[in-house]
Amino acid sequence: MDPALTALRGPAFTFRHDPFLGDPETSLAFEPDALIVMRGGRIVGYGGHSAERERYPADLPVAHHPDALICAGFVDAHVHYPQLEMIGAFGETLLDWLQRYTYPTELRFADRSHAERVAAVFLRDLLRAGVTTAAVYCTVHEHSVDAFFAEAERVGARMVAGKVLMDRHAPPALLDGADHGAAATERLIARWHGRGRALYAVTPRFAPALTDEGLRVAGRLWCDAPGTLMQTHLCETEAEIAWVRELFPGRASYLDVYAEAGLVGPGAVFGHAVHMAEGDLAALHRARCGLAHCPTSNLFLGSGLFRAHDARRADRPVRVGIGSDVGAGTSLSPLRTLGEAYKVARLGGSRLTAEQGFWLATRGGAEALGLEDRIGTLAPGMEADLVVLDPAATDLLAFRMEAAGTLAERLFALMTLGDERCVRATYVAGVPVWMRPDRPDDQAVPAGGLRRISQ
Ligand code: GUN
Ligand code: ZN
Repeated sequence: MDPALTALRGPAFTFRHDPFLGDPETSLAFEPDALIVMRGGRIVGYGGHSAERERYPADLPVAHHPDALICAGFVDAHVHYPQLEMIGAFGETLLDWLQRYTYPTELRFADRSHAERVAAVFLRDLLRAGVTTAAVYCTVHEHSVDAFFAEAERVGARMVAGKVLMDRHAPPALLDGADHGAAATERLIARWHGRGRALYAVTPRFAPALTDEGLRVAGRLWCDAPGTLMQTHLCETEAEIAWVRELFPGRASYLDVYAEAGLVGPGAVFGHAVHMAEGDLAALHRARCGLAHCPTSNLFLGSGLFRAHDARRADRPVRVGIGSDVGAGTSLSPLRTLGEAYKVARLGGSRLTAEQGFWLATRGGAEALGLEDRIGTLAPGMEADLVVLDPAATDLLAFRMEAAGTLAERLFALMTLGDERCVRATYVAGVPVWMRPDRPDDQAVPAGGLRRISQ
């Protein structure tokens, strides 16, 4: 039987060109009254309601959001689901933070039921934040990946995930054995990669946590499984880079450590890349790799300021998306992440426009993961992952929007003041998987409540 047609109607936007490479002001295609028609998990029609509507049956079910802003679902290009329960661990830089907070938290995933519980909470919160695709680090435990993909499959979301590989410099119970995690990775790829919407990412944690042999094994695993992704960390802090120099003497750079192991190529996505030499950015461009800009994490740990405009320089643009990097990052909301990305750009002397911000959170993230042919754009043929944003979700936003004339001004206010409360609905493969019950301010404060408190 033909899957049923369903539709969304309301103001919608997508990108006509890359706002880093062309004029940001003309990069958005805004449709003030769009009809988005979906079937079998894909968008089958997209355009102005008046022209589109007559092409479909009169009984087409249409969810109408006349005062919303609809766009492609957000992409989180770098996040650790096991770290959800340790967001905001106080007072350390990266390397101490890993030893003191992160590894003890990840040790708890030896218990499968714990992994299942955290995976369910994480996915619920991700969808509430409007994220429909994420590149997710699990733990070293094989069943941490099963727990995550099983939950993602239940929801039907396009998710990228992998078992963390590490064979040194962590508690023994978190280290891979003599085969460097190869057998578990191979089993997981066989079990999950390409099943439904699941995509596997070979996941060496970062160079200091792997021996030369461990990195080589990761490179072989990735090479032997075409279509899988590869995710790791790169040049996050100065101290980490100095350690890599010590551990791998003779390598030209941190990136070169990965390149030697066969871990640099299309489908590789590197988190952070805060402290990068020009030659390595050019190499990432040539190799069609992706970067995840993780501003809340880089600010929280004091790691440094990512230079988004330099990474995207027009003569050698590197693919860039945003990453929450929870639990070093402080929010799963891409709107919150974009607000901090703007401030990071300001401290670096540049300005991230609203168009560039929303590009990073949608199409840019899709490009960083090599998935731009499937997600990140509203167009027929694309997978029907969408977010319905409420630009007036809070009293302050509603008030601020009165003075925001253009779409760019409204998007910029959303970037600055918005968070998960602005997500009215999230659609995955054409199905609403999150519907905000009410306007959050109405829920939080009973009618007359504020007045009573101030009396
Ligand atoms: N580098 C290696 N592991 C991690 C991690 O879990 N979080 C962050 N932010 N950086 C890392
Ligand atoms: Zn990370």
